[in-house]
Amino acid sequence: MDGALGRSGLEQLRSSAARAAPFEYTGAQTRPRWNFTGGFPDPRCFPTQHLLACLEAAVAEDMAVLQYGSEIDESLRYGEASLRRALRGAVVADRGEPVTIAEIMLTTGAVGAIELAFRAFLDPGDVVVVEAPTWPAALTIARQHRAELVAVGIDSAGMRVDQLEERIDELEAQGRRPKLVYTIPTFQTPTGTVMAIERRRRLADLAARVGFVVLEDGTYEALRYDGEPVPSIQSFDRHDRVLKVGSFSKTVAPALRVGWISGGEEALTALASVRTDLGVAQWPARALALFVEQGGYAEHLGRLLATYRQKRDVLHAALERECADLADWSVPLGGYYFWLKLRDQVDAGEAQRVAMENGIAMRPGEQFFGLPEDGRQFLRVAFSQVPEEVIPIGVAELGKALRSAACGSRR
Ligand SMILES: Cc1ncc(COP(=O)(O)O)c(C=O)c1O
Repeated sequence: MDGALGRSGLEQLRSSAARAAPFEYTGAQTRPRWNFTGGFPDPRCFPTQHLLACLEAAVAEDMAVLQYGSEIDESLRYGEASLRRALRGAVVADRGEPVTIAEIMLTTGAVGAIELAFRAFLDPGDVVVVEAPTWPAALTIARQHRAELVAVGIDSAGMRVDQLEERIDELEAQGRRPKLVYTIPTFQTPTGTVMAIERRRRLADLAARVGFVVLEDGTYEALRYDGEPVPSIQSFDRHDRVLKVGSFSKTVAPALRVGWISGGEEALTALASVRTDLGVAQWPARALALFVEQGGYAEHLGRLLATYRQKRDVLHAALERECADLADWSVPLGGYYFWLKLRDQVDAGEAQRVAMENGIAMRPGEQFFGLPEDGRQFLRVAFSQVPEEVIPIGVAELGKALRSAACGSRR
């Protein structure tokens, strides 16, 4: 007996957000032989021993880390205080001005920060501007808030702020304006681009002039393999319009689920007022604070950058050898991904089918666009998870898949 509504009746009970979500359970699929798909760190790089020591030290020092956060010091809504203090140095350096710990909030990963910001600022029908392409979960969260999505293109210097200005003019002509602009300015997902400094400044100015919130996602920012760091959008913000998101997922370990968001006190109060998750676990947060305080984080990051830089170079060399006549790409200066644009003669759907059949997993470009067909000729290839020695073999297989899907090829 399946109950009054029967098994399929549950479908009718699901919220419109759950019905519209692209989620499918895919856990039963076989493991790919070459996993270039998700933004997973290299498991061989996890700083396991040091983290275990910090976790142990955190409990030994004070069992309260096993408790909820406290309302007295606001750790319940803002997160464990010593980690917020440890992050303060980074936020101050980034913003170029003093900040208080009331301007930093810990969240359940970067995604927790994005969800909170969307919840704090969006009502149904509000306009959210995203880059096209962008991180798919941001599209999902915006849709769950019934936001109207407006896409702005990306070129080699990041979000086309000139296009954003055009969209704003069009909206203004209808008596509307964007409420929130979500951007990943540094090592953008999926394109890997870095937004030019002048565009960052213009975006911060626009936010103040037009009146919208910028949500700056800095999840990959610490993973820079070449060149000098670029000032954040937040560093140009004089009107508390820019909220900036960070995470330990890509640098330390995603299982800790510790991210953060920084912004003006008023903006963070808005986030705190809609927070319902009872905070970030105190234990991993305190352990991470110890990891940072003891210099473990800086040391680990140095090793990590060397590993990923090398993997990026190996993947690039393999792509040059195997795919140069079938796809185009830019070499990312940081982050986890190459964004391949397949040449017109390659049937992207067929290439993906053959690649999957041969055990190569990658992300189809369609997933990164509000209008999936815009991503048809693209593939995102992550080099983070695949062992360095295996990358060339996987890319050789990818080359074969693309070749077999090229028109004029013998099948
Ligand atoms: C651009 C971007 N933002 C946020 C996240 C989520 O990170 P976290 O694990 O910190 O929630 C990801 C993960 O892939 C990402 O690519």
